[in-house]
Amino acid sequence: MELDKMLCEENATLLGVLYTINTNTKGTAFIVDQSKILLGVVTDGDVRRALLSGKQLDTKVSEVLQNHYVIGSLGDSYETLLSKTNSKIKILPIVDENKRVVDFFEYRTDITTPVSSPYLKGNELKYVTDAVLSTWISSTGKYIDQFEQEFATFSECDYGVAVSNGTVALHLALATLGIGEGDEVIIPDLTFAATINAVLHANATPVIVDVEKDSWCIDPLEIKKAITKNTKAIIPVHIYGQPCEMDSIMELANQHNLFVVEDCAEAHGATYKGRKVGSFGHIGCFSFFANKIITTGEGGMCVTNDAKQNLKLRQLRDHGMSKEKRYWHEEVGFNYRMTNLQAAIGVAQMEKVNEILDERMSIGSMYSSGLNGMNGFEMQKKLQDREKVVWLYSALIKDNKRDEVLKELKEQGYDARPFFYSLSEMEIYQDYAFSNKNSLEISSEGINLPTYVGISDDVIQNVSKHLERFIDK
Ligand SMILES: Cc1ncc(COP(=O)(O)O)c(C=O)c1O
Repeated sequence: MELDKMLCEENATLLGVLYTINTNTKGTAFIVDQSKILLGVVTDGDVRRALLSGKQLDTKVSEVLQNHYVIGSLGDSYETLLSKTNSKIKILPIVDENKRVVDFFEYRTDITTPVSSPYLKGNELKYVTDAVLSTWISSTGKYIDQFEQEFATFSECDYGVAVSNGTVALHLALATLGIGEGDEVIIPDLTFAATINAVLHANATPVIVDVEKDSWCIDPLEIKKAITKNTKAIIPVHIYGQPCEMDSIMELANQHNLFVVEDCAEAHGATYKGRKVGSFGHIGCFSFFANKIITTGEGGMCVTNDAKQNLKLRQLRDHGMSKEKRYWHEEVGFNYRMTNLQAAIGVAQMEKVNEILDERMSIGSMYSSGLNGMNGFEMQKKLQDREKVVWLYSALIKDNKRDEVLKELKEQGYDARPFFYSLSEMEIYQDYAFSNKNSLEISSEGINLPTYVGISDDVIQNVSKHLERFIDK
Protein backbone atom coordinates (compact mmCIF):
# COMPACT_ATOMS: atom_id res chain seq x y z
CA MET A 1 0.00 0.00 0.00
CA GLU A 2 1.32 3.43 -0.93
CA LEU A 3 -0.04 4.92 2.32
CA ASP A 4 1.94 2.52 4.52
CA LYS A 5 5.13 3.72 2.90
CA MET A 6 4.33 7.25 4.09
CA LEU A 7 3.96 6.30 7.77
CA CYS A 8 6.71 6.44 10.37
CA GLU A 9 6.30 5.55 14.06
CA GLU A 10 6.70 8.24 16.70
CA ASN A 11 9.69 6.57 18.39
CA ALA A 12 11.68 6.41 15.15
CA THR A 13 15.03 8.19 14.90
CA LEU A 14 15.87 10.76 12.23
CA LEU A 15 17.70 7.96 10.44
CA GLY A 16 14.46 5.93 10.49
CA VAL A 17 12.60 8.89 9.00
CA LEU A 18 15.17 9.09 6.23
CA TYR A 19 14.62 5.40 5.51
CA THR A 20 10.88 6.01 5.23
CA ILE A 21 11.39 8.99 2.92
CA ASN A 22 13.86 7.03 0.86
CA THR A 23 11.32 4.22 0.42
CA ASN A 24 8.33 6.34 -0.49
CA THR A 25 10.41 8.74 -2.65
CA LYS A 26 7.99 11.54 -1.80
CA GLY A 27 10.26 13.61 0.45
CA THR A 28 7.77 13.41 3.32
CA ALA A 29 6.86 11.10 6.22
CA PHE A 30 3.72 11.17 8.36
CA ILE A 31 4.61 10.53 12.01
CA VAL A 32 1.95 8.42 13.72
CA ASP A 33 1.37 6.54 16.97
CA GLN A 34 0.55 2.85 17.09
CA SER A 35 -3.09 3.49 16.13
CA LYS A 36 -1.98 5.55 13.13
CA ILE A 37 -3.11 8.77 14.82
CA LEU A 38 -1.23 11.63 13.20
CA LEU A 39 1.38 13.37 15.36
CA GLY A 40 3.15 15.42 12.73
CA VAL A 41 4.58 15.70 9.24
CA VAL A 42 8.32 15.67 8.59
CA THR A 43 9.99 16.44 5.30
CA ASP A 44 13.52 15.68 4.13
CA GLY A 45 14.17 19.43 4.55
CA ASP A 46 13.10 19.24 8.21
CA VAL A 47 15.58 16.39 8.80
CA ARG A 48 18.34 18.31 7.04
CA ARG A 49 17.71 21.44 9.11
CA ALA A 50 17.61 19.38 12.34
CA LEU A 51 20.99 17.79 11.54
CA LEU A 52 22.52 21.17 10.67
CA SER A 53 21.31 22.56 13.99
CA GLY A 54 23.19 19.85 15.89
CA LYS A 55 20.73 16.97 16.17
CA GLN A 56 22.07 13.47 15.47
CA LEU A 57 20.84 10.69 13.22
CA ASP A 58 19.82 8.78 16.37
CA THR A 59 17.78 11.74 17.71
CA LYS A 60 14.13 10.76 18.16
CA VAL A 61 11.86 12.33 15.57
CA SER A 62 9.50 13.41 18.38
CA GLU A 63 12.16 16.00 19.33
CA VAL A 64 11.93 17.79 16.00
CA LEU A 65 8.19 17.60 15.43
CA GLN A 66 6.53 20.93 14.80
CA ASN A 67 2.99 21.99 15.55
CA HIS A 68 2.36 23.53 12.19
CA TYR A 69 1.49 21.15 9.42
CA VAL A 70 -1.27 20.94 6.88
CA ILE A 71 -3.80 18.12 6.80
CA GLY A 72 -6.80 17.17 4.72
CA SER A 73 -9.98 15.75 6.19
CA LEU A 74 -11.81 12.71 4.97
CA GLY A 75 -14.58 14.03 2.74
CA ASP A 76 -12.65 17.14 1.62
CA SER A 77 -13.34 17.87 -2.04
CA TYR A 78 -10.57 17.77 -4.57
CA GLU A 79 -10.64 21.58 -4.79
CA THR A 80 -10.33 21.90 -0.99
CA LEU A 81 -7.36 19.57 -0.93
CA LEU A 82 -5.81 21.34 -3.87
CA SER A 83 -6.23 24.72 -2.16
CA LYS A 84 -4.20 23.43 0.80
CA THR A 85 -1.20 22.72 -1.41
CA ASN A 86 1.29 25.30 -2.58
CA SER A 87 4.79 25.47 -4.06
CA LYS A 88 6.24 23.99 -0.83
CA ILE A 89 3.44 21.70 0.38
CA LYS A 90 2.70 19.21 -2.38
CA ILE A 91 1.64 16.29 -0.23
CA LEU A 92 -0.65 16.13 2.80
CA PRO A 93 -2.13 13.42 5.00
CA ILE A 94 -5.89 12.90 5.00
CA VAL A 95 -7.27 12.08 8.44
CA ASP A 96 -10.61 10.86 9.79
CA GLU A 97 -12.50 12.40 12.69
CA ASN A 98 -10.12 10.70 15.20
CA LYS A 99 -7.12 12.15 13.37
CA ARG A 100 -6.22 8.69 12.11
CA VAL A 101 -4.34 8.81 8.80
CA VAL A 102 -6.55 7.15 6.19
CA ASP A 103 -5.12 8.48 2.93
CA PHE A 104 -2.94 11.17 1.48
CA PHE A 105 -3.28 13.79 -1.20
CA GLU A 106 -0.52 14.61 -3.61
CA TYR A 107 -0.50 17.40 -6.13
CA ARG A 108 1.45 16.38 -9.19
CA THR A 109 1.80 17.98 -12.56
CA ASP A 110 3.99 15.26 -13.99
CA ILE A 111 2.43 12.18 -15.55
CA THR A 112 3.87 9.16 -13.82
CA THR A 113 1.40 6.45 -14.79
CA PRO A 114 1.07 6.03 -18.55
CA VAL A 115 -2.19 5.04 -20.20
CA SER A 116 -0.40 2.17 -21.85
CA SER A 117 2.97 0.49 -21.83
CA PRO A 118 4.25 -2.45 -23.89
CA TYR A 119 5.01 -5.72 -22.13
CA LEU A 120 8.48 -6.74 -23.30
CA LYS A 121 9.61 -9.07 -20.56
CA GLY A 122 9.76 -12.29 -22.57
CA ASN A 123 12.12 -13.25 -25.38
CA GLU A 124 11.91 -9.93 -27.24
CA LEU A 125 15.51 -8.88 -26.65
CA LYS A 126 16.84 -12.39 -27.25
CA TYR A 127 15.11 -12.74 -30.62
CA VAL A 128 15.98 -9.20 -31.76
CA THR A 129 19.61 -9.88 -30.83
CA ASP A 130 19.44 -13.13 -32.77
CA ALA A 131 18.06 -11.26 -35.80
CA VAL A 132 20.83 -8.68 -35.56
CA LEU A 133 23.52 -11.36 -35.27
CA SER A 134 22.04 -13.16 -38.25
CA THR A 135 22.40 -9.89 -40.25
CA TRP A 136 18.85 -10.39 -41.58
CA ILE A 137 17.50 -7.06 -40.42
CA SER A 138 15.35 -5.98 -43.38
CA SER A 139 12.25 -7.70 -44.63
CA THR A 140 13.59 -11.20 -45.20
CA GLY A 141 14.29 -13.57 -42.32
CA LYS A 142 12.95 -16.46 -40.31
CA TYR A 143 11.00 -14.33 -37.84
CA ILE A 144 8.77 -12.82 -40.53
CA ASP A 145 7.53 -16.21 -41.74
CA GLN A 146 7.12 -17.45 -38.19
CA PHE A 147 5.25 -14.36 -37.02
CA GLU A 148 2.95 -14.43 -40.05
CA GLN A 149 2.11 -18.10 -39.52
CA GLU A 150 1.60 -17.81 -35.79
CA PHE A 151 -0.53 -14.70 -35.97
CA ALA A 152 -2.66 -16.14 -38.80
CA THR A 153 -3.25 -19.28 -36.73
CA PHE A 154 -4.10 -17.18 -33.67
CA SER A 155 -6.63 -15.23 -35.79
CA GLU A 156 -8.07 -18.46 -37.20
CA CYS A 157 -7.04 -17.52 -40.76
CA ASP A 158 -5.03 -19.41 -43.35
CA TYR A 159 -2.68 -16.58 -44.29
CA GLY A 160 -0.98 -13.64 -42.61
CA VAL A 161 0.90 -10.89 -44.44
CA ALA A 162 3.04 -8.74 -42.15
CA VAL A 163 3.29 -5.05 -42.98
CA SER A 164 4.86 -1.92 -41.55
CA ASN A 165 1.82 -0.63 -39.62
CA GLY A 166 -1.94 -0.96 -39.20
CA THR A 167 -2.75 1.97 -41.47
CA VAL A 168 -0.96 0.49 -44.46
CA ALA A 169 -2.56 -2.89 -43.66
CA LEU A 170 -5.91 -1.20 -44.37
CA HIS A 171 -4.62 0.55 -47.47
CA LEU A 172 -3.03 -2.63 -48.79
CA ALA A 173 -6.27 -4.55 -48.20
CA LEU A 174 -8.30 -1.98 -50.16
CA ALA A 175 -5.76 -1.91 -52.99
CA THR A 176 -5.69 -5.71 -53.09
CA LEU A 177 -9.47 -5.82 -53.44
CA GLY A 178 -9.28 -3.33 -56.30
CA ILE A 179 -11.10 -0.56 -54.48
CA GLY A 180 -10.45 2.86 -55.94
CA GLU A 181 -11.91 5.92 -57.58
CA GLY A 182 -15.70 6.06 -57.70
CA ASP A 183 -16.10 3.33 -55.10
CA GLU A 184 -17.85 4.05 -51.82
CA VAL A 185 -16.56 2.44 -48.64
CA ILE A 186 -18.77 2.47 -45.54
CA ILE A 187 -16.95 3.11 -42.29
CA PRO A 188 -18.01 3.97 -38.71
CA ASP A 189 -17.94 7.53 -37.38
CA LEU A 190 -16.26 6.42 -34.16
CA THR A 191 -12.80 5.21 -35.11
CA PHE A 192 -9.20 6.33 -35.35
CA ALA A 193 -8.49 8.46 -38.43
CA ALA A 194 -6.37 5.68 -39.98
CA THR A 195 -9.58 3.94 -41.10
CA ILE A 196 -10.82 6.86 -43.19
CA ASN A 197 -7.34 7.93 -44.32
CA ALA A 198 -6.76 4.50 -45.84
CA VAL A 199 -9.98 4.86 -47.86
CA LEU A 200 -9.02 8.34 -49.04
CA HIS A 201 -5.50 7.23 -49.98
CA ALA A 202 -7.10 4.47 -52.06
CA ASN A 203 -8.91 7.32 -53.92
CA ALA A 204 -12.24 5.86 -52.87
CA THR A 205 -15.08 7.78 -51.17
CA PRO A 206 -15.68 7.12 -47.49
CA VAL A 207 -19.26 7.06 -46.24
CA ILE A 208 -19.34 7.66 -42.50
CA VAL A 209 -22.20 6.01 -40.62
CA ASP A 210 -23.26 5.97 -37.00
CA VAL A 211 -22.41 3.35 -34.39
CA GLU A 212 -24.63 1.25 -32.13
CA LYS A 213 -25.34 2.88 -28.77
CA ASP A 214 -24.60 -0.30 -26.83
CA SER A 215 -21.51 -1.68 -28.54
CA TRP A 216 -19.98 1.60 -29.89
CA CYS A 217 -19.37 -0.38 -33.12
CA ILE A 218 -20.68 0.35 -36.64
CA ASP A 219 -24.47 -0.05 -36.80
CA PRO A 220 -25.63 -2.56 -39.47
CA LEU A 221 -28.96 -0.70 -39.78
CA GLU A 222 -27.06 2.46 -40.72
CA ILE A 223 -24.88 0.51 -43.15
CA LYS A 224 -28.04 -0.74 -44.84
CA LYS A 225 -29.38 2.78 -45.22
CA ALA A 226 -26.09 4.06 -46.64
CA ILE A 227 -25.63 1.40 -49.36
CA THR A 228 -25.83 2.76 -52.92
CA LYS A 229 -25.03 1.32 -56.32
CA ASN A 230 -21.47 2.64 -55.85
CA THR A 231 -20.84 0.92 -52.54
CA LYS A 232 -17.95 -1.50 -52.84
CA ALA A 233 -16.89 -2.30 -49.30
CA ILE A 234 -17.58 -2.03 -45.59
CA ILE A 235 -14.89 -1.55 -42.95
CA PRO A 236 -16.30 -2.67 -39.60
CA VAL A 237 -13.99 -1.48 -36.81
CA HIS A 238 -13.91 -3.64 -33.67
CA ILE A 239 -13.53 -0.55 -31.57
CA TYR A 240 -11.95 -0.60 -28.11
CA GLY A 241 -11.81 -4.40 -28.16
CA GLN A 242 -15.55 -4.86 -28.90
CA PRO A 243 -16.50 -7.09 -31.84
CA CYS A 244 -18.97 -5.74 -34.40
CA GLU A 245 -22.30 -7.43 -35.18
CA MET A 246 -20.67 -9.62 -37.85
CA ASP A 247 -23.63 -11.80 -38.91
CA SER A 248 -25.68 -8.78 -40.00
CA ILE A 249 -22.68 -7.13 -41.65
CA MET A 250 -21.72 -10.26 -43.63
CA GLU A 251 -25.37 -10.78 -44.63
CA LEU A 252 -25.57 -7.24 -46.03
CA ALA A 253 -22.22 -7.71 -47.76
CA ASN A 254 -23.39 -10.95 -49.38
CA GLN A 255 -26.72 -9.45 -50.46
CA HIS A 256 -25.03 -6.46 -52.10
CA ASN A 257 -21.85 -8.13 -53.27
CA LEU A 258 -19.60 -6.00 -51.09
CA PHE A 259 -16.13 -6.60 -49.73
CA VAL A 260 -15.59 -6.57 -45.99
CA VAL A 261 -12.26 -5.41 -44.57
CA GLU A 262 -12.22 -5.80 -40.80
CA ASP A 263 -10.27 -3.19 -38.85
CA CYS A 264 -9.08 -5.24 -35.88
CA ALA A 265 -6.35 -2.81 -34.77
CA GLU A 266 -7.72 -2.72 -31.22
CA ALA A 267 -9.21 -6.18 -30.85
CA HIS A 268 -6.64 -8.98 -31.20
CA GLY A 269 -8.29 -12.16 -30.00
CA ALA A 270 -11.86 -10.83 -29.63
CA THR A 271 -14.53 -13.27 -30.84
CA TYR A 272 -17.98 -13.11 -32.34
CA LYS A 273 -20.04 -16.29 -31.81
CA GLY A 274 -16.83 -18.01 -30.79
CA ARG A 275 -14.90 -17.05 -33.92
CA LYS A 276 -11.96 -14.65 -33.93
CA VAL A 277 -12.33 -11.18 -35.44
CA GLY A 278 -10.39 -10.80 -38.67
CA SER A 279 -11.61 -14.15 -39.97
CA PHE A 280 -15.08 -13.02 -41.10
CA GLY A 281 -14.38 -10.54 -43.87
CA HIS A 282 -12.31 -10.86 -47.02
CA ILE A 283 -9.29 -9.37 -45.25
CA GLY A 284 -8.68 -8.55 -41.60
CA CYS A 285 -6.22 -5.81 -40.59
CA PHE A 286 -4.30 -5.54 -37.33
CA SER A 287 -1.97 -2.98 -35.78
CA PHE A 288 1.04 -3.75 -33.60
CA PHE A 289 1.76 -0.18 -32.49
CA ALA A 290 3.33 -0.01 -29.02
CA ASN A 291 0.01 0.64 -27.27
CA LYS A 292 -1.76 -2.30 -28.89
CA ILE A 293 -2.55 -5.67 -27.29
CA ILE A 294 0.61 -7.12 -28.75
CA THR A 295 3.25 -4.97 -30.36
CA THR A 296 6.17 -4.95 -32.74
CA GLY A 297 6.93 -1.27 -32.12
CA GLU A 298 5.35 -0.22 -35.39
CA GLY A 299 3.76 -2.97 -37.41
CA GLY A 300 0.62 -4.49 -38.82
CA MET A 301 -0.80 -7.61 -40.45
CA CYS A 302 -3.39 -8.48 -43.08
CA VAL A 303 -5.03 -11.88 -42.55
CA THR A 304 -7.17 -13.74 -45.04
CA ASN A 305 -8.53 -17.16 -45.92
CA ASP A 306 -8.30 -16.53 -49.64
CA ALA A 307 -5.18 -17.92 -51.35
CA LYS A 308 -5.43 -15.45 -54.25
CA GLN A 309 -5.75 -12.41 -51.96
CA ASN A 310 -2.77 -13.70 -49.99
CA LEU A 311 -0.60 -13.67 -53.12
CA LYS A 312 -1.85 -10.28 -54.21
CA LEU A 313 -1.31 -8.77 -50.76
CA ARG A 314 2.28 -10.05 -50.86
CA GLN A 315 2.91 -8.76 -54.35
CA LEU A 316 1.52 -5.28 -53.69
CA ARG A 317 3.36 -5.12 -50.36
CA ASP A 318 6.58 -5.63 -52.31
CA HIS A 319 6.38 -3.00 -55.11
CA GLY A 320 4.03 -5.17 -57.18
CA MET A 321 7.02 -7.25 -58.19
CA SER A 322 6.50 -10.63 -59.84
CA LYS A 323 7.26 -13.51 -57.47
CA GLU A 324 8.72 -15.49 -60.38
CA LYS A 325 10.73 -12.80 -62.18
CA ARG A 326 12.81 -10.45 -60.02
CA TYR A 327 12.56 -6.71 -60.84
CA TRP A 328 9.63 -7.40 -63.13
CA HIS A 329 6.66 -5.35 -61.89
CA GLU A 330 3.15 -6.46 -62.69
CA GLU A 331 1.30 -3.93 -60.51
CA VAL A 332 1.98 -0.46 -59.18
CA GLY A 333 2.77 -1.57 -55.66
CA PHE A 334 4.14 -0.23 -52.39
CA ASN A 335 6.90 -0.92 -49.95
CA TYR A 336 4.77 -1.89 -46.96
CA ARG A 337 7.06 -4.63 -45.63
CA MET A 338 7.75 -5.43 -41.98
CA THR A 339 11.37 -5.97 -40.90
CA ASN A 340 12.76 -9.17 -39.42
CA LEU A 341 13.61 -7.11 -36.30
CA GLN A 342 9.98 -6.15 -35.77
CA ALA A 343 8.84 -9.70 -36.48
CA ALA A 344 11.35 -10.99 -33.90
CA ILE A 345 9.52 -8.92 -31.28
CA GLY A 346 6.23 -10.20 -32.69
CA VAL A 347 7.26 -13.83 -32.28
CA ALA A 348 8.22 -13.18 -28.65
CA GLN A 349 4.87 -11.44 -28.10
CA MET A 350 2.99 -14.38 -29.60
CA GLU A 351 4.52 -16.66 -26.96
CA LYS A 352 2.55 -14.69 -24.36
CA VAL A 353 -0.46 -13.44 -26.27
CA ASN A 354 -3.01 -15.44 -24.27
CA GLU A 355 -1.33 -14.51 -21.01
CA ILE A 356 -1.44 -10.83 -22.06
CA LEU A 357 -5.13 -11.11 -22.96
CA ASP A 358 -5.93 -12.78 -19.61
CA GLU A 359 -3.99 -10.16 -17.69
CA ARG A 360 -5.75 -7.33 -19.51
CA MET A 361 -9.07 -9.01 -18.82
CA SER A 362 -8.39 -9.16 -15.10
CA ILE A 363 -7.31 -5.49 -15.10
CA GLY A 364 -10.66 -4.74 -16.74
CA SER A 365 -12.53 -6.78 -14.14
CA MET A 366 -10.76 -4.96 -11.34
CA TYR A 367 -11.71 -1.55 -12.72
CA SER A 368 -15.27 -2.74 -13.32
CA SER A 369 -15.75 -4.20 -9.86
CA GLY A 370 -14.64 -0.92 -8.29
CA LEU A 371 -16.64 1.35 -10.57
CA ASN A 372 -19.71 -0.63 -11.56
CA GLY A 373 -23.00 0.87 -10.47
CA MET A 374 -21.59 4.32 -9.85
CA ASN A 375 -23.93 7.09 -10.91
CA GLY A 376 -22.78 8.78 -14.08
CA PHE A 377 -20.43 5.95 -15.02
CA GLU A 378 -21.17 3.46 -17.80
CA MET A 379 -18.73 0.69 -18.49
CA GLN A 380 -18.32 -0.92 -21.89
CA LYS A 381 -21.14 -3.42 -22.36
CA LYS A 382 -20.71 -7.14 -22.62
CA LEU A 383 -23.09 -8.25 -25.37
CA GLN A 384 -24.49 -11.60 -26.31
CA ASP A 385 -22.40 -13.48 -28.90
CA ARG A 386 -19.58 -10.94 -28.62
CA GLU A 387 -16.57 -11.76 -26.46
CA LYS A 388 -14.70 -8.49 -26.19
CA VAL A 389 -11.08 -8.14 -25.18
CA VAL A 390 -9.66 -5.40 -22.98
CA TRP A 391 -7.42 -3.13 -25.02
CA LEU A 392 -7.57 0.03 -22.93
CA TYR A 393 -10.23 -0.04 -20.22
CA SER A 394 -12.98 2.04 -21.82
CA ALA A 395 -16.03 3.62 -20.21
CA LEU A 396 -18.42 6.55 -20.50
CA ILE A 397 -18.55 9.41 -18.00
CA LYS A 398 -21.99 11.00 -18.17
CA ASP A 399 -23.28 14.48 -17.24
CA ASN A 400 -20.59 16.41 -19.11
CA LYS A 401 -17.98 15.43 -16.56
CA ARG A 402 -15.58 13.52 -18.81
CA ASP A 403 -13.16 16.37 -19.42
CA GLU A 404 -13.07 17.33 -15.73
CA VAL A 405 -12.32 13.72 -14.84
CA LEU A 406 -9.48 13.63 -17.37
CA LYS A 407 -8.07 16.81 -15.83
CA GLU A 408 -8.40 15.42 -12.31
CA LEU A 409 -6.59 12.20 -13.25
CA LYS A 410 -3.85 14.11 -15.02
CA GLU A 411 -3.35 16.31 -11.97
CA GLN A 412 -3.02 13.18 -9.88
CA GLY A 413 -0.35 11.82 -12.21
CA TYR A 414 -2.48 9.32 -14.15
CA ASP A 415 -2.57 9.53 -17.91
CA ALA A 416 -6.01 8.78 -19.27
CA ARG A 417 -7.35 9.47 -22.74
CA PRO A 418 -10.58 10.73 -24.24
CA PHE A 419 -12.20 8.64 -26.97
CA PHE A 420 -11.45 9.51 -30.57
CA TYR A 421 -13.37 12.49 -31.93
CA SER A 422 -16.16 11.49 -34.26
CA LEU A 423 -14.72 11.63 -37.75
CA SER A 424 -17.71 13.69 -38.89
CA GLU A 425 -16.80 16.43 -36.39
CA MET A 426 -13.58 17.20 -38.20
CA GLU A 427 -13.65 19.63 -41.07
CA ILE A 428 -11.56 17.50 -43.41
CA TYR A 429 -13.98 14.56 -43.13
CA GLN A 430 -17.31 16.38 -42.67
CA ASP A 431 -18.41 16.00 -46.28
CA TYR A 432 -18.41 12.21 -45.98
CA ALA A 433 -20.85 12.06 -43.04
CA PHE A 434 -24.06 10.06 -43.49
CA SER A 435 -25.14 9.62 -39.84
CA ASN A 436 -23.46 10.25 -36.48
CA LYS A 437 -25.85 10.80 -33.55
CA ASN A 438 -24.69 8.05 -31.16
CA SER A 439 -21.10 8.48 -32.15
CA LEU A 440 -21.06 12.17 -31.21
CA GLU A 441 -22.44 11.36 -27.77
CA ILE A 442 -20.14 8.41 -27.10
CA SER A 443 -17.11 10.29 -28.35
CA SER A 444 -17.78 13.19 -25.97
CA GLU A 445 -18.22 10.89 -22.96
CA GLY A 446 -15.65 8.16 -23.55
CA ILE A 447 -12.54 7.70 -21.49
CA ASN A 448 -9.69 5.17 -21.60
CA LEU A 449 -8.02 4.39 -18.29
CA PRO A 450 -4.43 3.18 -17.77
CA THR A 451 -4.28 -0.43 -18.92
CA TYR A 452 -1.14 -2.45 -19.37
CA VAL A 453 0.41 -5.68 -18.21
CA GLY A 454 2.29 -4.98 -15.01
CA ILE A 455 0.03 -2.15 -13.80
CA SER A 456 -0.22 -2.36 -10.01
CA ASP A 457 -3.43 -3.00 -8.10
CA ASP A 458 -2.69 0.24 -6.24
CA VAL A 459 -2.82 2.25 -9.47
CA ILE A 460 -6.14 0.69 -10.47
CA GLN A 461 -7.58 1.33 -7.02
CA ASN A 462 -6.28 4.91 -6.94
CA VAL A 463 -7.60 5.73 -10.39
CA SER A 464 -10.98 4.22 -9.44
CA LYS A 465 -10.99 6.13 -6.17
CA HIS A 466 -10.30 9.45 -7.89
CA LEU A 467 -13.01 8.72 -10.43
CA GLU A 468 -15.45 7.74 -7.74
CA ARG A 469 -14.75 10.80 -5.62
CA PHE A 470 -15.14 13.05 -8.60
CA ILE A 471 -18.19 11.50 -10.19
CA ASP A 472 -20.05 11.15 -6.92
CA LYS A 473 -19.59 14.85 -6.29
C1 LIG B 1 -9.05 1.55 -35.18
C2 LIG B 1 -7.66 1.72 -35.69
N1 LIG B 1 -7.41 1.50 -36.99
C3 LIG B 1 -6.17 1.61 -37.49
C4 LIG B 1 -5.11 1.97 -36.71
C5 LIG B 1 -3.77 2.20 -37.35
O1 LIG B 1 -2.75 1.43 -36.86
P1 LIG B 1 -1.23 1.97 -36.90
O2 LIG B 1 -1.09 2.99 -35.84
O3 LIG B 1 -0.42 0.73 -36.64
O4 LIG B 1 -0.99 2.52 -38.25
C6 LIG B 1 -5.31 2.18 -35.35
C7 LIG B 1 -4.20 2.45 -34.44
O5 LIG B 1 -3.76 3.38 -33.99
C8 LIG B 1 -6.62 2.08 -34.82
O6 LIG B 1 -6.86 2.32 -33.53
